[in-house]
Amino acid sequence: SQPILLDSHGRQLTYLRLSVTDRCNFRCYYCMPEEGMDFAARQELLSFEEMLQLATVFCRLGVNKIRITGGEPFVRAGITPFLRKLSEVPGLQEITVTSNGSLSQKQILALQEIGIRKINISLDSLDRQRFFQITRRDTFDTVFGSIQQLLTAGFEVKLNCVVAENKNTQDLIPFVELTKTYPLTVRFLEEMPFNGSNSFQVPQWSYREIYAHISAHYPLLQKLESEPSSTSVNYRVPGYAGSFGIIPSFSRTFCGTCNRIRLGATGELRTCLYGPPATNLRDFLRQGASSALLEEEILRAVSKREKDGFAAEASHGTAVHESMSVLGG
Ligand code: GTP
Ligand code: 5AD
Ligand code: SF4
Repeated sequence: SQPILLDSHGRQLTYLRLSVTDRCNFRCYYCMPEEGMDFAARQELLSFEEMLQLATVFCRLGVNKIRITGGEPFVRAGITPFLRKLSEVPGLQEITVTSNGSLSQKQILALQEIGIRKINISLDSLDRQRFFQITRRDTFDTVFGSIQQLLTAGFEVKLNCVVAENKNTQDLIPFVELTKTYPLTVRFLEEMPFNGSNSFQVPQWSYREIYAHISAHYPLLQKLESEPSSTSVNYRVPGYAGSFGIIPSFSRTFCGTCNRIRLGATGELRTCLYGPPATNLRDFLRQGASSALLEEEILRAVSKREKDGFAAEASHGTAVHESMSVLGG
C-alpha cells in the first residue's frame, strides 16, 4: 500500500518542490534586484547526492511528484545527470520542471530521454521590449524558441505570467490568443511579496480583475475541471487548442487543499510558501543523521504545519522580502 503523509489539518502531502539553486541568469523585477543577491556559496548548497537521499526519504513518506525549481535549474552544472538518477527513486511517479526558458535544445532532448513530460516556463510578455523591462534580459527570442521546441518535442507546456499594472496588462488578451493555435496552458499569477527587496505593493490585479478583463473579451469561456489540489482555476475559449488559468497566488484561495512541501537549495524545509522554514534538513544530514531520523524530523515539521500560511500582511512591513529564487516558487 502507498504511504500517506498527512499534516495536522488532514491534508495529504504528495508534491515536493525542490529548488536546486538560488542563482539565475535573469533578473525578473518580482523576484530579485537588478544587481542580484548574496547567492549561497557552493558548499552551502545541497549536493546532488544529498538531494537524492532526501528525495528518497520524502518518497518513502508518501511524496509521489517532485517539481524541480530554482532560481533557474539549468544554471546548475550537472543538473541533467542528477535528474536521470532522481527518476529512479522508488515511489516517485512524476518529475516536472519550472524554468525561465533559457534551456538549450540539448537539455530539452535530455529531459525527453529521461522521461520528463511536463515543463512550466515563466513568460510575462509576448513583446520583446516589455519582456526586457520585466526580466532585465533581452532574451525573448530564445525563450519563445525554447517553448516552440518543447511543444514540438511533445512536452505538456504551461506558461507562468505574473500580471502587474504598468508592466504587462496589455499582454493578457494576446496570451489568451496564443492558445488559439498553441496547445499550451497560460497561467496568470498575482504578484507575491518575494522580490528580495523591501518594497512591495498589494497587487492591483487580483484574480478577480484578471478574470473580469479576460471574460469581457470572451463572453463564452468554458470552465475546465481541475485536480482538487490545483492552484489554478482553468478555462478554455471554445474551439481553441490550448487553455488558460488564473492562480490567486497572493489571495491564496487554495490553502485548504494544498498538497505541497518545499525544500530550498540550502536545505530549508518549508511547509508553506508564506511561512518561515520549519527546519534545515541539510544540517541534519551533515551531522550524520540516519534516514530514520530525517523521516522523524520531516514528520515533526509536517505535524506543525499551519492551516492557512501566515497572514500575507505580516510580510508587507519594511523587512527585506525573501526572493522567490530562494524560496523555490
Ligand atoms: P503544476 O504542477 O503544473 O500545478 O505547477 P505549479 O503551479 O505547482 O508550479 P509552478 O512552478 O509553475 O508555479 C506557478 C505559480 O504558482 C508560482 O508563482 C508559484 O509560486 C505559485 N504557487 C505554487 N505553489 C504555491 C503555493 O503553495 N502557495 C502559493 N501561494 N503559491 C503557489
Ligand atoms: N510573485 C508571483 N510569482 C512569482 N514567480 C516568481 N516570483 C514571483 C512573485 N514574486 C513565478 C514565476 C515562476 C514561478 C515558479 O513563480 O513566474 O514561473
Ligand atoms: Fe530567474 Fe525565475 Fe527569478 Fe526570473 S523569476 S529572476 S527567471 S528565478
